[in-house]
Amino acid sequence: MNFPAPLLEQLRDARRMVALTGAGISAESGLATFRDAQTGLWTKFKPEELATAEAFQRDPKFVQDWYAWRRQNAADAKPNAGHLALVEVEKRAPEFLLVTQNVDGLHERAGSKRIVELHGNIHRFRCFENDCSTDNFDAENGRCRSCGGYLRPAVVWFGEMLPTAALETAIDAAERCDAFFSIGTSSIIYPAADLWRRAKNSGAIIIEINKDPTPLTPLADYSFLGKAGEILPALFEIVWSKKQFTK
Ligand code: OAD
Repeated sequence: MNFPAPLLEQLRDARRMVALTGAGISAESGLATFRDAQTGLWTKFKPEELATAEAFQRDPKFVQDWYAWRRQNAADAKPNAGHLALVEVEKRAPEFLLVTQNVDGLHERAGSKRIVELHGNIHRFRCFENDCSTDNFDAENGRCRSCGGYLRPAVVWFGEMLPTAALETAIDAAERCDAFFSIGTSSIIYPAADLWRRAKNSGAIIIEINKDPTPLTPLADYSFLGKAGEILPALFEIVWSKKQFTK
């Protein structure tokens, strides 16, 4: 695989890097994306019936079952070469933040440490009724023992705000980085889809790695169309074979 020499130089010189990931990075682990034709979750299911507070209120069991199915798929999946390449970046880059829209927990299982989960995590729960402590959750039965309310997944649904601290950390890192990667995301769901712009405005180079073109593709400094699990390891191997980053 060939990468432009100026990109390799810029990555060698970068002190601060941010990677934003989306469902595409977990596709090679066997997890469905949201919008891929034929296989995407939102081509088979209606988000308004499954990923909103109103849907949960209407039919909590139906929504719980759908998330239980996705939770099991995520638990059965294994991190792939794309996840592992980002673990290596964290070890070698002077400063690195991984910002993910994914709720599957695969980055953490791969070994990444500095992770901001913009859309929550499917393996955690919240009480739908009150702000109850997680200590009294009966995850198996989907109920909160403290107040009797239903448990919902601790993910961000349509119409909900992103966790403030997570978003602030992501924005701050984007505005201070030298290199911003957008990986496996369709770049259409905000505010995540806007992070690259903040990085660009602050002078960072923007690198996109995605199977299909997105709205970001014509605007990125470098865009590689293909699988994250192939492109990321190849790119970082070349960067680091020439020079080791120093902390
Ligand atoms: P999408 O399904 O919208 O986009 C996934 C992108 O990954 C597509 O552009 C694919 O071309 C690309 N892709 C697929 N396989 C790939 C591979 N092996 N390597 C690289 N790219 C690949 O998923 P997201 O962008 O993550 O929000 O979606 C953003 C948000 O929309 C999700 O977090 C979710 C969803 O509704 C919430 O649930 C709040």
